[in-house]
Amino acid sequence: MTTREDCVGLDSVDSLGALRDEFVLRDSQVYLDGNSLGPLTRSAAARVRRVVEHEWAEGLVISWGGAGWMGAPTRLGERLAPLLGARAGEVVVADTLTISLAKLIGGALALRPERHVLLTDAANFHSDVYISRAMARRAGREVRVATIDRNRLEEYLDDEVALVVLTHVDFRTGEMLDLAGVTEKVHAAGALMLWDFAHSIGAVPLDVTGAHVDFAAGCTYKYLNAGPGAPGFLYVRSSWQGVIENPLPGWLGHARPFDFDLEYVPAPGMQAFVTSSPPIVALAALDGALEVWDRVTIDQVRAKSLVLTDLFIDLLGERLPGVFEVVTPTEHARRGSQVSLRFHHAYGLVQALIERGVIGDFRDPDIARFGFAPLYLRYVDVFDAVEHFVQVVTGEEYLAPRFAVRHAVT
Ligand SMILES: Cc1ncc(COP(=O)(O)O)c(C=O)c1O
Repeated sequence: MTTREDCVGLDSVDSLGALRDEFVLRDSQVYLDGNSLGPLTRSAAARVRRVVEHEWAEGLVISWGGAGWMGAPTRLGERLAPLLGARAGEVVVADTLTISLAKLIGGALALRPERHVLLTDAANFHSDVYISRAMARRAGREVRVATIDRNRLEEYLDDEVALVVLTHVDFRTGEMLDLAGVTEKVHAAGALMLWDFAHSIGAVPLDVTGAHVDFAAGCTYKYLNAGPGAPGFLYVRSSWQGVIENPLPGWLGHARPFDFDLEYVPAPGMQAFVTSSPPIVALAALDGALEVWDRVTIDQVRAKSLVLTDLFIDLLGERLPGVFEVVTPTEHARRGSQVSLRFHHAYGLVQALIERGVIGDFRDPDIARFGFAPLYLRYVDVFDAVEHFVQVVTGEEYLAPRFAVRHAVT
């Protein structure tokens, strides 16, 4: 059985260990919710301060040009591209994820006008389903949204399918889908593929180029630590640029916004997917948060993530055998960077752990979710977290009435 000393030993030789100091975290806390909201980095705080106190306070409106604010969406897109396996000029940071999906769904449906079906996963994040339906209703022809069992995708792929919208790492179970394999099947049916990378970016290596992905979007407030409500990103393969149209055009996607021309002429490249004025303060937080990525590779992060999640699963199995159903796949190739446990008192369990400083979250009806972000999580944190699990379960703390009160955010 792995001991606490073993974990201290693993931390002492961890090549990512020094990065924890870049994050503002209390030593007594075990933060296992970076798959929901990543913690603050010192570099994000410093970058925001600089933008607010110098570029905004002193530079005023001149900073739109002088401090390079106008170019921030594409500049940050370039910084994210390596994490996606994208090429230069294929990524932009503009809106939050649901809005980014709206743009890509609307644009993609128009590329297959003779087809009338959008396939998505019945287990997909609800926002993806809402926005798929909303954009299908506005497609200018009848488009049916089918919410299917993703494991039976092949049965539904025919020449009526225009677009498939899937989340690469399931938000509830942490299962990771086969990016290249699924994309290939979708293409073989003549349909287009749009991936949601909310739980993938910064968590697992991605290769959109090698997988021939058409479109993708994701958020930056989870494993990229850009802060609450931070803008997300959009990826459009270069061969679709200039072909796909942004269905939500605005002045900053125009080729010449300061001509004030009423005829919309899209800017070249990914700038066409920008609609409004970029949220500069939020983008500064993203810019700062990405600094830590200059010191690591996603392969290093992935390797540690798999050891952390294996350790958590193994320790729970040893110390609390048969108590939880691990719903996250144990095969590495099918696992994201979270572990989800099914438990009949999952809400109370999560609340009791939070009171003890082990922060995870709950997904209805019976899933306790724990994210493992290798940039700041130590092996010893996993050991200590499991120790708290043992106490919460053996003492039946999860049954305490104060842990039955449902908060608005679970
Ligand atoms: C898989 C997935 N898709 C979409 C969203 C919605 O993102 P946003 O609130 O940025 O629109 C989330 C949010 O957590 C998510 O987990």
